[in-house]
Amino acid sequence: MDETGLTRTDLGLFLELSAIDPELPAYRRLFLALRRSILKRHIAGGARVPSTRTLAGALGISRNTVKSAYELLQAEGYLVSRRGAGCYVADLPEIAPVHVDGEQASAARSAWEPQAPPAQNPSYQLLQPAVPALDQFPYRRWQRALQSSVSSPRLLAGDPQGDARLRQEIVRWLSAQRGMQADASQVVITSGSQQGLYLVANELIAAGEPVALELPGFPGTERVFERVGAQIEHFRQQDLDDMEALSRVKLMVITPSRNFPLGHTLPADRRLALLNRAHEKGSWLVEDDYDSEFSAGPALSALFSLDNRERVIYAGTFSRTLFPGLRIGYLVIPKGLVDRFVALRRIIDGGLSTPAQVALAEFMANGDYSRHLRRMKRLYGQRRQQLEQLLSNSALANLPVIDAGGGMHLCLQLPDSWDDHALAQSLVKKGVSARALRLYDSAGRPGLVLGFAADGAERLARGVQLLEQVVGPALSGR
Ligand SMILES: Cc1ncc(COP(=O)(O)O)c(C=O)c1O
Repeated sequence: MDETGLTRTDLGLFLELSAIDPELPAYRRLFLALRRSILKRHIAGGARVPSTRTLAGALGISRNTVKSAYELLQAEGYLVSRRGAGCYVADLPEIAPVHVDGEQASAARSAWEPQAPPAQNPSYQLLQPAVPALDQFPYRRWQRALQSSVSSPRLLAGDPQGDARLRQEIVRWLSAQRGMQADASQVVITSGSQQGLYLVANELIAAGEPVALELPGFPGTERVFERVGAQIEHFRQQDLDDMEALSRVKLMVITPSRNFPLGHTLPADRRLALLNRAHEKGSWLVEDDYDSEFSAGPALSALFSLDNRERVIYAGTFSRTLFPGLRIGYLVIPKGLVDRFVALRRIIDGGLSTPAQVALAEFMANGDYSRHLRRMKRLYGQRRQQLEQLLSNSALANLPVIDAGGGMHLCLQLPDSWDDHALAQSLVKKGVSARALRLYDSAGRPGLVLGFAADGAERLARGVQLLEQVVGPALSGR
């Protein structure tokens, strides 16, 4: 198909007719329009898409808008670029019509205030993964939200499913950021992703039933499924072409937007194949989205956003976007499962503390949450660059960085014969809390996971100095 295969009329008509929220950023609207055209096969697999200049000219929009939309389509695997030959639509499996429209823009609100310094320095080690920039947390704004949350009606126990306003804010956020069309009645507030996974395992899996867990992956997930006596199999995102190997499993846990800890993304063809398989077999897909808010580039659509057959359960958390001590996360579940999950919630603990949920709802509703995330995304990008620079000027310069970029940590590969667990133990004694990569994949290659989000320039420099002291001698002895 030549470039004119996608005409102004096709797209213009489509943009007009679709229910895409006009408040969304222009690139996001174009992305959704194109994605829908691709999924509905209005634009065929293998077709070449127009150049950014041609499409921008045809639609009367800026080239940057088209570029951003194309980048997002490429990042999610709907377009593939061939060196020097332009961009083509990927060959994707067929799927029933999907939810792809109507995202809502996040609301803009009150003025931002300078940070109040923390009363005490929080104690975490250098280069410790999964710790956000606590020195940059908007303490005053959070305190204000907490203050407003304590009034007499809220001293009573709340809804075991979770505070209604918080659930509403969460669906608004997920709609704007991740393209998820869900109702607040589908959200169950949890004490974090970990508890979300525990609820899923308890409700959906009986002893002896087969489940598939991703490698590399968070060991806490495995503990949950061991606990219910599941028969555990493993898979890697790269091996998902062979669906037959997983045909028996009743449930899969996957991190499609950003693998933990390597950061890679599951492309659209594999997402669609997974959804089809889950539908055929009546199995569940659990989307663990723990690590995706700080991916480089625009926010990727959730797997949940493509599912119209109620097979995906989405697990989210505020541990990384706000602070791990908050202990608030959520599940977004198919409507048919809600009653069962709420009943389980009543049995386990009757629901979470009301004031913290009310404060979080206020923090989201008044725009503090989205502002904080925007700032942190910028800051983490800078901190990552600083750490990469320090490493490349150090004795560790030859060790490859193997993760996908962005995020709150980077992964450094070590020589194959090295024991990364032993190295991590020596580092902890020096005050550096790097994690061994084999903690997340015991059969994988050795490496170190180095957090950078919580550390300013001085702490990063000190961390790299200590790394050099521990790792450097072994490198020079090779
Ligand atoms: C991939 C992944 N999922 C879930 C969790 C649990 O997070 P939470 O603090 O929300 O319970 C973690 C924590 O490190 C994680 O890495």
